[in-house]
Amino acid sequence: MKKVFFSNSGAEANECAIKTARKYSFDKYGENRFKIVTLVNSFHGRTLTTLSATGQESFHQYFMPFTDGFVHVPADDFAALESAVDDGVCAVMLELVQGEGGVYVLDKEYVKKAEELCRKKDVLFIVDEVQTGNGRTGSLYAYMQYGISPDIVTTAKGLGNGLPIGATMFSAKCEKTLTPGTHGSTFGGNPVACAGAIAVIKAINDKLLSGVAEKGERIRGVLSVCSKVKSVSGLGLMLGVEADDAAALKEQCLQKGLVVLTAKDKLRLLPPLNIGDDELEEGLRILKEVLG
Ligand SMILES: Cc1ncc(COP(=O)(O)O)c(C=O)c1O
Repeated sequence: MKKVFFSNSGAEANECAIKTARKYSFDKYGENRFKIVTLVNSFHGRTLTTLSATGQESFHQYFMPFTDGFVHVPADDFAALESAVDDGVCAVMLELVQGEGGVYVLDKEYVKKAEELCRKKDVLFIVDEVQTGNGRTGSLYAYMQYGISPDIVTTAKGLGNGLPIGATMFSAKCEKTLTPGTHGSTFGGNPVACAGAIAVIKAINDKLLSGVAEKGERIRGVLSVCSKVKSVSGLGLMLGVEADDAAALKEQCLQKGLVVLTAKDKLRLLPPLNIGDDELEEGLRILKEVLG
């Protein structure tokens, strides 16, 4: 990655990526090459444009008209992607592990073929690492486990660790696409949020990352012997647990003092990357109680 544009959230980071893809294409090919292909069950944010990018019908209500030009194809279906990437497409945008969409890990071969297709068609390959970035999956970015080189990577959540920051990172191909006046932000790159992000980046080292992988395995080990667990998905410390009535199980965990989330019909676990052994054991004890 050659350049970064700082903003204040994940949705803004994705808006910036979308604008860059459209301008990259406009500069090179002119009008009418503006479509962006994303995946069914993706989640890219809550602004009107990133809601359009989000491939879930439940998010396409109430706020019409939404931004035009987004096409959604099923995950891991390369034939569908190939036929969607026609001459009117300027970018493909993927989450490598769909977070809100049910902690679904994309297939490596599919992702590699998607990248090759983008190269062949001069379509920008955007990876949304708002949730997966900054060590969450056991590598600095999830794309590093896929052997790919995206044109744009977006990130936010873990980078700010509670402070509002978004980052859109550009490869050499599109580092010069946005120019002064074509994009900007009053608070983007503000010193407080950036000081926080610098502290986060300094804390991410090989030890922390290998700890993420180890702790993820430890949690999976416990889940594998719980009677209510049907399957476990995810990467590193981003885990999805398939079990009946996840919403009720989430409530039971909360009652016992363990904060978990749901994603679609799964329980979703996103523990702190630096969680200590005692806290992890305590959380696992509660999970075992709730999940049998
Ligand atoms: C993959 C992904 N992209 C974008 C967003 C939007 O980020 P924000 O809430 O910071 O705007 C989220 C938030 O859940 C996300 O998980």
